[in-house]
Amino acid sequence: MDDALQQAWRAVEEFGRRPGATAIRPLFAADPGRFARYHRRGAGLLLDISKTAISDEVLGALHALARAAGLEEQRHAMARGEAVNETEGRAALHMALRGPLPGAGGSAHEDALRTLAYMRAFTESVHRGEIRGATNQRFDTVLSIGIGGSDLGPVMVTRALWRAGDPMRPVHLGNVDGHGWETVLPMLDPRRTLVLVGSKTFTTAETMANARLVRAWMEASVGRNGASAHFAALSTNLAACEAFGIAADRVFPFRDWVGGRFSLWSAMGLSLALCLGWERFEALLAGAREMDRHFLQTPLADNLPMLLALVEAWHVGALGWHRRAVLPYDERLRRLPAHLQQLEMESLGKGVRRDGSPTPWATGPVVFGEPGTSAQHSFMQLIHQGARPVPVDFILVAKADHRHEENHRILLANGLAQAEALMVGRDADAIAADMREAGADEAAIARLAPHRAAPGDRPSTTIIMPCLDPQSLGSLIALYEHKVFCLGCLWDINPFDQWGVELGKVLATPLLRELTDGRKVAHDSSTEGLLAEVLRLQK
Ligand code: F6P
Repeated sequence: MDDALQQAWRAVEEFGRRPGATAIRPLFAADPGRFARYHRRGAGLLLDISKTAISDEVLGALHALARAAGLEEQRHAMARGEAVNETEGRAALHMALRGPLPGAGGSAHEDALRTLAYMRAFTESVHRGEIRGATNQRFDTVLSIGIGGSDLGPVMVTRALWRAGDPMRPVHLGNVDGHGWETVLPMLDPRRTLVLVGSKTFTTAETMANARLVRAWMEASVGRNGASAHFAALSTNLAACEAFGIAADRVFPFRDWVGGRFSLWSAMGLSLALCLGWERFEALLAGAREMDRHFLQTPLADNLPMLLALVEAWHVGALGWHRRAVLPYDERLRRLPAHLQQLEMESLGKGVRRDGSPTPWATGPVVFGEPGTSAQHSFMQLIHQGARPVPVDFILVAKADHRHEENHRILLANGLAQAEALMVGRDADAIAADMREAGADEAAIARLAPHRAAPGDRPSTTIIMPCLDPQSLGSLIALYEHKVFCLGCLWDINPFDQWGVELGKVLATPLLRELTDGRKVAHDSSTEGLLAEVLRLQK
């Protein structure tokens, strides 16, 4: 027996099967005011969904889907601190890191304010030179060790906002690959380096291996006792931080209601405060808070995260498009696709509903991306002419922070042109006419026109940011966080756990033993063959 959500999904899927369901051009032809009706503003951002095949009828079915999923109510349940992460029995209160909330969210905000005050005092003491290294030199570099959510968000924000002349220099060490350490090593003077070990659990094998490596390097320079002056930890696991040897007053805590991929606003953002300055870290939080307000207070029809989620639900669930490209037209946002990959794919890569039954619908798509215009010269060919549409998120920044105006105009013109080209396309007849006018012979036209034609009706959404400052970046990141939550509701999956990554971690343990001392464990023949080859080549 279908539940209300399944029935609502069926209605959406039914629209997806109608002839012409994917056509966008006729929607523009029929309605010159389409942009006016299909863009919305919130928290300083503009979102345009007009270049998708969504009509008023389809939107009606998507609104019904949102109502069946209880979307408007569920956002308030999350804000009240209910255990929306059922499989781990936890709330998801990242919004409490940025502003006051009702119910249990309120005490969570009080808790967050205490940590923020501690982070601020530490940051300012480091900047004033009151907190120094073991050799009494001022810290000028922050080496952040962490992986996944304890790396991608802070790295993305740092790349977006850090400028030469900012208070401290950021260096990040994520991967356990020793080549990563070898790459950053020449940038570091241990006497001036403050090391932040960021790990929610403080048990992640890669992070702990890197932390041990860096501690040995630090001890070799400033001695065993001196090294502790150079370390701080960002974690929920205070006992493990202490066991590692990090002094209690150097542990910046956060709670288990902060998911790793939603954690850059917590103590995990200490590197941002240190490297960008406290005011800019606060402005980042303020931008996210603006988006939180918009998300919590705006009705479905005008709610940016909800609309973005409904567009994705339409593309994945009704049209069967399981990939999405993210193209920020700003080089400073080059790590945004990587952050969104984790935020979206770790959250939405689930195949069972909240009650444990298999989802009868497809869930999270593959997300990938690169900054424009570079992306245009790599994978955009497939998006323009490939056999299956790939929806795109374009992110444009209206005002640049440099004086190379012509470059910025070229950048924006390209971003707008890509979205337009994907939608309008150019059919073989029009291409043939162009070729004829250019003097091509009929044989060449017949041979080449099909190859040169672009099908059009390829969907995209566009977000316009006024500029790339901490406030607008905070709003942008929170927009995507809330979109992920909305999709969790629409697909009836838990977006806050990540059980799928566990098995690989478990299987790595015996393999590590085999690589270390040759102790044999039974595997499938492929794993055994590959392991034997690695061991042979290492001899
Ligand atoms: O890969 C799984 C994961 O648990 C992510 O969810 C998390 O962001 C990352 O590992 C790092 O975890 P931790 O912060 O506990 O070191």
